[in-house]
Amino acid sequence: MLDAAARAADFIRVQAARLGELTWEHKGPADFVSDVDRGAEAIVRDVLLGAFPDAVFLGEETYDPTASLGDGLAFIVDPLDGTTNFLHDFPWYAVSIGAAWAGEPIAGVVRNVPTGETFLARHGGGAWRERGHGREPIRVSSVTQPARALIGTGFPFKSLGQIDAYQRHFAAIAATTAGIRRPGAAALDLCDVACGRFEGFWELTLSPWDLAAGITIVREAGGIITDLDGAPARVAHTGLVVGSPVMHAWLLATIEAA
Ligand code: IPD
Ligand code: CA
Ligand code: CA
Repeated sequence: MLDAAARAADFIRVQAARLGELTWEHKGPADFVSDVDRGAEAIVRDVLLGAFPDAVFLGEETYDPTASLGDGLAFIVDPLDGTTNFLHDFPWYAVSIGAAWAGEPIAGVVRNVPTGETFLARHGGGAWRERGHGREPIRVSSVTQPARALIGTGFPFKSLGQIDAYQRHFAAIAATTAGIRRPGAAALDLCDVACGRFEGFWELTLSPWDLAAGITIVREAGGIITDLDGAPARVAHTGLVVGSPVMHAWLLATIEAA
């Protein structure tokens, strides 16, 4: 998974030099794709299925809604998380690779393409960050006072029917925390909770490939990651509430009350 993420990131970095030549295709309103997303997915797929030919491969750009994760090994891949950032040369986007066994997340790798920072975790093996040549363990933040918390989020820009509910959550959280950020790549947002940059994160609508890697990375870093009802997060189309145990409980209660 590390090898696949590194190769796809190299490809994306080269393509970033020819941004002006890329064709933006619409998947839906405000939802774009280019040859870069598809090329990166093909690279990840070749590396992973080369090593594990019997695994199920679920990638965003070749997604089959009828496919299941099966009862063995499956990889769930976002080849370019933060496509809008990438297309605007806003340097915050990633390759995200999750692994599941019988549908349960067991490992994750998220590589920030512009910075090269890589987050990784394996069930029972802790959560780690690689920068340069070093690898260091990561933990969720120890800050427990909402007034000192920095909270990450994603806007419901593809499901505008949720905007009223989202604005109520936003108002309640903005009024009681140190700040809210919307960086634009959900897989990185989850890693930023895992390494303590964010005390918490919430988003109302995400896809399996956005969160499959981050679930294990957050849990192995000591964090809690659930859906909006507080049930353990699954590799699915779902909303998320994420944080340290204390901040997760506070964030979930604040969202419910709003
Ligand atoms: C998007 C990003 C964004 C989130 C969206 C995702 P994409 O992924 O993760 O932060 O708010 O819901 O779709 O389309 O750039 O892979
Ligand atoms: Ca994504
Ligand atoms: Ca994507």
